[in-house]
Amino acid sequence: MTLDSFRDELAATACAIASQGKGLLAADESTGTIGKRFAAVGVENTEANRCAYRSLLATAPGLAEAISGVILYEETLFQDSLDASGAPGPPIVELFEGQGIVPGIKVDQGVEPLPGGLPGESWCTGLKGLQERAARYYARGARFAKWRAVLKITPEGAPSELCVRENAWGLARYARTVQEEGLVPIVEPEILMDGDHDLETTAAVQEWVLRTVYEALSRNGVFLEGSLLKPSMTLPGMACPGAPSPDQVAEFTLRTLERTVPVSVPAILFLSGGLSEEEASVYLNAINQTLSPAPWHLGFSYGRALQQSCLKHWAGHDVHGGQQALLARARANGQAAQGFYVAGSEPSDGAPLYEANYSY
Ligand code: 13P
Repeated sequence: MTLDSFRDELAATACAIASQGKGLLAADESTGTIGKRFAAVGVENTEANRCAYRSLLATAPGLAEAISGVILYEETLFQDSLDASGAPGPPIVELFEGQGIVPGIKVDQGVEPLPGGLPGESWCTGLKGLQERAARYYARGARFAKWRAVLKITPEGAPSELCVRENAWGLARYARTVQEEGLVPIVEPEILMDGDHDLETTAAVQEWVLRTVYEALSRNGVFLEGSLLKPSMTLPGMACPGAPSPDQVAEFTLRTLERTVPVSVPAILFLSGGLSEEEASVYLNAINQTLSPAPWHLGFSYGRALQQSCLKHWAGHDVHGGQQALLARARANGQAAQGFYVAGSEPSDGAPLYEANYSY
C-alpha cells in the first residue's frame, strides 16, 4: 500500500488515541520481560499464564474510560483469551476492540550493542521484513505500532553522535514503513534514568535527541499528523542527589518539548521509565497543570506504572483484585492527563520500579 492511501485514517487513529483524559496501556512486554514480572509475584512464565494475565487486562470493566489504546506483544495479538475459570474465549484483540480500545503492536525486535559506539550504546533492530509484518498486524486489527530506541547518558560521553543519529534514523525508517501499511507509529526515543547526571544535562541531551529525531522523520516524509511521540520525562539520573519537585519536572519536560516537537504531532504520551506508579501520575498531572491549553495532548503510555499493583493483586489467581488495581491506576492517569489528579486519591504500589539498563 502507500502512505497516501492511509493519510486520513492515520490522522483519525492518532486523534482517537489522543482523546481527552485517556492514554495507552503498554502491555507489550516481551516473553523474557513478562517472565521477570511474573517471577516477582510467584507466577510461572507459561503461554497459558501470559494469556490469562492479558485476558484479565482486556476484560477489565470500564477500562476504556481512561485507556484509548493498548500496545500488545505479537504473541498476544494472535492469541485467543482465557476466562477466569480457564475456559477459552474470543481473541484477546477482539476483547480490547469490543471495549473501544484501539489495539497496537510492538514491532521492534529489541536493541543490540552499537558497533563503533561508546560502551553500553545500542541500536534498535526490526526493519527487515517490517512492511510485511505491519500488513499482517493491520489485517489482524492493529492500528498503531511502537518502536523503542534506547539512549543512555554516561560519564564516558554517551550518547555519542553516532548513537543519536543511528537511533533517530531507525525510528524514522520504522515510522515511514508502518505508515505505508496504515499503522500510526509511536516514536519512542527513551533516555534511561541510569546515571548520576543532573536535570540540566538530561534536558540538553533530550533536546538534541528530539531535534535529530524530527529532522530524520522529516527527511523520510513521515506524516506527523498520523504519528505519536513517546518520550521519557525530562528527569535527572537515578543516582543524582536530591529528587526534583513535580513542578521542576514539568517545567523542564515542557521546555524540552516546546523547543523540539512540532505542533502537528497530535499527542505526546510519556513512558514511565522506572518511576513509581504514584510518581508517574503526579508528574503527568504537574505537566498538564503547567501548560494548559497545550499544543499537543499530553498523556501517558505506561507499562510498569499501570501494571505493578495489578500484577501483585492478581498473583496468578485474583482476577477481580488485579482488575480493580489496574482500573485505579488508569483512573489516576486519566485525571492526571487533564491536570486534576489529587495525589494519593487512588491506591498505588509504592515499590520502586526502576531497574538499571531496562529492556522491554
Ligand atoms: P514503562 O512505562 O514501563 O517505561 O514502559 C513503557 C514502554 O512501552 C516502554 O517501551
